[in-house]
Amino acid sequence: MPVHILAIESSCDETSAAVLTDGKVLSNIIANQTVHEQYGGVVPELASRAHQENIVPVVDMALKQAGVDRSELSAIAFTQSPGLIGSLLVGSCFAKAMALALNIPLIAVHHMQAHVLANFIADPKPSFPFLCLTVSGGHTQIVRCDSPLSMQVIGETLDDAAGEAFDKSAKLLGLPYPGGPLIDKYAKEGYAARFKFPEPQIPGLNFSFSGLKTAILYFLQEHQQKDPGFVQANLADICASVQERIVSILLHKLVKASRETGIQQIAIAGGVSANSGLRNALQQYGEKYGWQTYIPKFEYCTDNAAMIAMTAWYKYLAGDFAGLEAGVSARAGF
Ligand code: KG4
Ligand code: ZN
Repeated sequence: MPVHILAIESSCDETSAAVLTDGKVLSNIIANQTVHEQYGGVVPELASRAHQENIVPVVDMALKQAGVDRSELSAIAFTQSPGLIGSLLVGSCFAKAMALALNIPLIAVHHMQAHVLANFIADPKPSFPFLCLTVSGGHTQIVRCDSPLSMQVIGETLDDAAGEAFDKSAKLLGLPYPGGPLIDKYAKEGYAARFKFPEPQIPGLNFSFSGLKTAILYFLQEHQQKDPGFVQANLADICASVQERIVSILLHKLVKASRETGIQQIAIAGGVSANSGLRNALQQYGEKYGWQTYIPKFEYCTDNAAMIAMTAWYKYLAGDFAGLEAGVSARAGF
């Protein structure tokens, strides 16, 4: 009998459901919440309400697109942590209720582990051990992966995440939230060597992005004092220069991690891995250092339930199920 898993992701502002059959993703539906744009960031209470509105149609659509009836489901997975508590609760309560009604097991999934395992949704897949740079709106980590369910964080940000560095820089430039994709868009037409932003000297494999944000703020203040139209006239070059610095901070630490561990299988994951500058740089560094590199398909980089389903598949095979009492947590630890 085939194993069908329904997975639900609701950790932040995307409501997503996916169906996976015997390790293969058959559907991945994502409902984006646009309500937050006007506030310049995700408003937790509004996110929870939108999840409540979206979850039934999104799950229905995922089952329909996969051609799987809910009576055929073998297990239901949900994102347990980290994330916004109210948002996580909507997905976990829905998953628990459905698992209880269908009398099937429940699987609790760690969102950051799932971002890493997005690299296993399509071929070619990394072999173990590999390093994964997970870069999202809330996290920036270098993870050493020895098996699908055995991961260790060997470097992480001490302050802002890479996604936040993109979004906060964009905000300083007057761009709407989330600004990361917009910086990427304008950077394509800009000259990255035009402005030089500092690279922080953080020991070991950890990152820091708060100094960069301050440097950009002072840089803009200085130029705008002389010319109020400075940002408008130079937007593409500023975006390209900011992107170049964020990407080089990430890649320099990845080079260090590869040297220290001797691992040359290198993957990236998380929302920021959708960034074209980062994707290109990874290919170039890969050629230079002899790495084998892996980047998930675009739709599996930002938050999605397919990666939750993929992780749940490995947990299903390992018999790692959760009870109905399983809680949710905002915290990030594996
Ligand atoms: O993984 P994700 O979808 O959600 C979290 O778990 O945080 O990541 C969202 C982050 C946001 O900061 C967004 O600006 C950033 O990923 N992002 C990008 C791009 N696409 C998404 N940053 C730079 N360039 C992009 N193309
Ligand atoms: Zn994420």
